[in-house]
Amino acid sequence: MCGIIGYIGENNAIDFLHYGLKKLEYRGYDSAGVAYFNKNQLTVYKKVGQVDNLFDEKLLKVNSNIGIGHTRWATNGKISTENSHPHQSFSKTITLVHNGIIENCTELKNKYLKGINLQSETDTEVVANLLEFFYLKNHHKLDSIKILMSLLKGSYALAILFNDDCENIYFLKNRSPLVIGCGNNCNFISSDTLGFEKYTSKYIEIDDFEFGYINKKNMEIFDKNSKKITKNVKDCANFQKINNKMQFEHYMLKEIFEIPDAIKNTCELYKNFESIKIINKNLFNKIKRIKLIACGTSYHASLIGEKYFREIGFDAYTEIASEFLYNKQIWQKDTLYIFISQSGETADTLSCVELCKKHNAKTLCITNVPTSRITKICDYTLPICCGPEIAVASTKAFNGQVCSLLVLSKYLQFIKKINIKKKKLNKKDTHSTSINKLISKIIKISKSININTFIRQVKPLTQMVKESKNVFFVGKDYDYVLALESALKLKEISYINSVAYPSGELKHGTISLVDNNTLTFAYITEKKLSSKTLNVINQIKSRGGKVVVISPFIELQKFENIDYFIKLPEVNNYFYPIISIIPMQILSYYVSVSLGNNPDKPRNLAKSVTVE
Ligand code: G6P
Repeated sequence: MCGIIGYIGENNAIDFLHYGLKKLEYRGYDSAGVAYFNKNQLTVYKKVGQVDNLFDEKLLKVNSNIGIGHTRWATNGKISTENSHPHQSFSKTITLVHNGIIENCTELKNKYLKGINLQSETDTEVVANLLEFFYLKNHHKLDSIKILMSLLKGSYALAILFNDDCENIYFLKNRSPLVIGCGNNCNFISSDTLGFEKYTSKYIEIDDFEFGYINKKNMEIFDKNSKKITKNVKDCANFQKINNKMQFEHYMLKEIFEIPDAIKNTCELYKNFESIKIINKNLFNKIKRIKLIACGTSYHASLIGEKYFREIGFDAYTEIASEFLYNKQIWQKDTLYIFISQSGETADTLSCVELCKKHNAKTLCITNVPTSRITKICDYTLPICCGPEIAVASTKAFNGQVCSLLVLSKYLQFIKKINIKKKKLNKKDTHSTSINKLISKIIKISKSININTFIRQVKPLTQMVKESKNVFFVGKDYDYVLALESALKLKEISYINSVAYPSGELKHGTISLVDNNTLTFAYITEKKLSSKTLNVINQIKSRGGKVVVISPFIELQKFENIDYFIKLPEVNNYFYPIISIIPMQILSYYVSVSLGNNPDKPRNLAKSVTVE
């Protein structure tokens, strides 16, 4: 977890590093640092805190045309200047920045670095010293990098400066993302194309076990056998268009306003469901069981997906990625493993894909980042088109993921029907009829979503939530999953303790916490279940708790035990999970802001958690 950037060219590297690190802050913001050459003199400058804190008057005065930078989310070692990157080797021959985690760091340190006094608690400083160790022996930069690569176990994207070479930035990578931006008389190296997209849309993706260097005009890339390779130059102009906050105070609010487009664009893509080669029908013909695996918000989308798949008669289960690895798995050929990850980079989820691959299981990912690692290791990819999500707390991606799962479930239902009838698919039978009808309905709903109407409804609740020590969310069935996601959203960015329960479970213990200081949000989007949740509301009210109901059923407003009613638009049952979360996404945002927090960068969190 962390972002790395490098620039070499004719202009001032400091400006490019500043821009790049700001854009990469979604990967971590505990501390930041840069290293640059100025008149052949290598300087390292690092500080605890966010990127803007690093780029003070002193640094902004520097002029250099080559530099590397890093923004950190602490894993190995506490948040401190010593543990911040760049790290240098003992004799300062090597200076480098690292994203990833080296698993055999202690072993390598004991074997090669006896007697070296390390300054930090990080694995990265060990890597810098190892590279120095080999370089001082053989005086060949690329050979030393190759030896280093053969020894490192774990994940790494490394950008390296040698103190005797102010014309090249070296790199190597395994499992952590790394791209080269190809500019005009300049080149970049970055964890993400976001790090340079303002300056060039041309980029090259570095694959695992590739290494090389960039300079002002050229670059050389080698595979693990040291064979020089030529790679395709890609263009990121299309998928990186909307990466500034525009008039919005925070990315999170901007991204909430983008929910209707995220839903619409995802659905538009699925109009050609079969032709995007997500899936082939033969795969689905054989599938009898589905396992969904994900973390955080994506896990909640998976829980909705599980319900959609069950509705159509599929045996479906969801597991949290970090638990999947340790639960005893029963590997069956007719199970499809679906991985959901906004970023496509979450280490827990990626490890599960790798485990499935080891057992020859069929894998499909649903992701918002088409270039991400998950798309490279899964058999099939179903993209969602929500546009880049920068705010750490996921919003529009959830709505997109749920849409994607709904369409996928309907597609499966369609395939299944065809199978049952032992009918051959013909053009008329394909998605153009069943899927496109569904897609048109979802697009229609997306157009009717009015974020401002929701804001007007929920903003008045900000004070009440802000003053609560504990907030509960309850619901049944789909509504329980919405409660889970609501509780996550609120706690992530407001730091208020918020917990979700299935409505019926509250009485089995947690109701003991209810008094006149507790606030409960109840989702009621399934009419047939409303009386059950209303019973729970009565139980809460009779113990003095306050209750807010989120529902499309206006008649509930008359129910005397409800303190506040948030009205959802009325849609078909299946569609509620796509839209019902929006009020709580918005309310969490306003509570966070009114508490003086930065909702885009909540404390202790990061957008992509690339460590297990
Ligand atoms: C982190 C983020 C969450 C996100 C989760 C899964 O914990 O802070 O917002 O839901 O990772 O991320 P993914 O990219 O795999 O969906």
